[in-house]
Amino acid sequence: MHPDSILQKQKRLWSEIENRLKHGKIEFPLMPFVALRLMEIAQDPDSSAQDLQKVIIADQVIASRVLRIANSPLFPCREPVVSLQHAIIRLGYRNIFNMVLASSLYTNIVGANSYSNKSHQLWEHSLGCAMMCRVIAATVNEDAEEAFTIGLLHDFGKLLLYQETIIQSYNFGETPEEFEDFVKAYHSVLGGILTQSWNLPSRVSEAIRFHHDPEKAVEAKRMTAIVCFGNLLCHYHGIGVEPENIEIHGSASAKILGMQSFKVDALLEVALEAFKITSEIFPMNKVQN
Ligand SMILES: [Fe+2]
Ligand SMILES: [Fe+2]
Repeated sequence: MHPDSILQKQKRLWSEIENRLKHGKIEFPLMPFVALRLMEIAQDPDSSAQDLQKVIIADQVIASRVLRIANSPLFPCREPVVSLQHAIIRLGYRNIFNMVLASSLYTNIVGANSYSNKSHQLWEHSLGCAMMCRVIAATVNEDAEEAFTIGLLHDFGKLLLYQETIIQSYNFGETPEEFEDFVKAYHSVLGGILTQSWNLPSRVSEAIRFHHDPEKAVEAKRMTAIVCFGNLLCHYHGIGVEPENIEIHGSASAKILGMQSFKVDALLEVALEAFKITSEIFPMNKVQN
């Protein structure tokens, strides 16, 4: 088929999806409840660390993951963390929010999704990208926790597009390859819309919206370059995707971040190690409750 008509077909499918979104015919997954509660607590000036603790302790799975993270080499310390109260002090609100978000997405969205094979790969890729982004952000003096959240959510538009309900709703007449191309072209727009609907900061939605095209970002260009770069590193190493021989050192995102080659090589090692530690807490082979 002529490339123009493929693009036309993709545009038609996207405007159909946009239309359905506008009329509430496609339901976005809700932000996981525990993460939502944490956001409410953060916005409430009268809330305290105890409120945070109460929410986490109510979910034993999340509570135990928070404790494991607090005791992992990601947060080195002399004394082991034995209580949730201590873990909250050690990790701080934003790390806790990220771990809770990761934990709930892992169990509720990825685990429950019927497109499970793809979901597992997407989970591995998302977690890997989140860890890469965290390390890159720390290297270039940007907000590491914001970078983790964005890395974790950067491809969630794919999850929505893969949902069978959506696939079955359209008479796109596409081959699986054509559908994959469509997902590649439109998942970032959809991811931006999804995170907006979760009321995450506009910087987060922008970075997700443009994670394949960081030069187009306005409000959060460096953060967008971080997620783009983290994603490239995951593709290069085959984290949740087939490994690809792509240009990293001279990429647009490396240029925006002013990354020199020696830094890229050094951060890769650290990021891969961090990914290994985190993936022991969120195992890839099966979703555990
Ligand atoms: Fe992507
Ligand atoms: Fe990605």
